[in-house]
Amino acid sequence: MSGGWQAVDDYIAAKLLGDDDVLAATLVNNAARGLPPIDVSAAQGKMLCLLAQMAGAKRILEVGTLGGYSTIWLARALPEGGSLVTLELEAHHAAVARLNLENAGLADKVEIRTGPAADSLAAMAYGVPFDFVFIDADKQSNSLYVAEAIRLGCPGTTIIVDNVVREGGVIEAGSDDERIIGTRALFDMLAADPRLAATAVQTVGAKGWDGFVLARVI
Ligand code: SAH
Ligand code: DHB
Ligand code: MG
Repeated sequence: MSGGWQAVDDYIAAKLLGDDDVLAATLVNNAARGLPPIDVSAAQGKMLCLLAQMAGAKRILEVGTLGGYSTIWLARALPEGGSLVTLELEAHHAAVARLNLENAGLADKVEIRTGPAADSLAAMAYGVPFDFVFIDADKQSNSLYVAEAIRLGCPGTTIIVDNVVREGGVIEAGSDDERIIGTRALFDMLAADPRLAATAVQTVGAKGWDGFVLARVI
């Protein structure tokens, strides 16, 4: 079945995404420098770009940069004068992302902050609110990251969280996998927090069976 998922993603990419030298070079560079191939897919990246444009995003926050593949898709959604802050634990990942963003001509719009995202977020005072937040880092911290997205956002802020289905692992109530425990804590928080309207949508494709949380700050 997953062979079919990949073939359909290839069809979608060939029909709707076209050739993209910058994004292809990003993935080649990531692999050459030892980064794991856990970026969003091309179809998902364009979805993030379109969602950010639909939201009219001018100020985007990303948690989990890796080599900047999703960052490039999101930064492309920004209007003139827009900006993106992306948080990454690993200095090597951040360095590769910086190269990829320079190659994409987007370095002037994107600020990469290195270190544990929880620390980077705690150091961020409330200022001009973020209107779009993409969370894609360590899954055990997802509810903290959503709480920080609410603090640094405003009514109407869009919050997307990657990898919330994990081949169905999310429904394993007794799991001792801290990523599953973290994802289930995220769902508990979304269910209980009156400041959010939220859903989750399962996906299949080049990245297997997974899903996104989509939430809006009320
Ligand atoms: N958003 C990227 C993929 C991110 S992979 C894309 O789609 O292209 C997850 C990233 O989160 C990895 O680079 C990992 O180093 C980073 N990460 C893990 N724990 C983190 C933490 N505590 N703080 C910040 N980043 C973290
Ligand atoms: C992993 C992380 C991701 O963000 C992803 O999209 C896929 C896999 C991981 O840590 O294995
Ligand atoms: Mg992910």
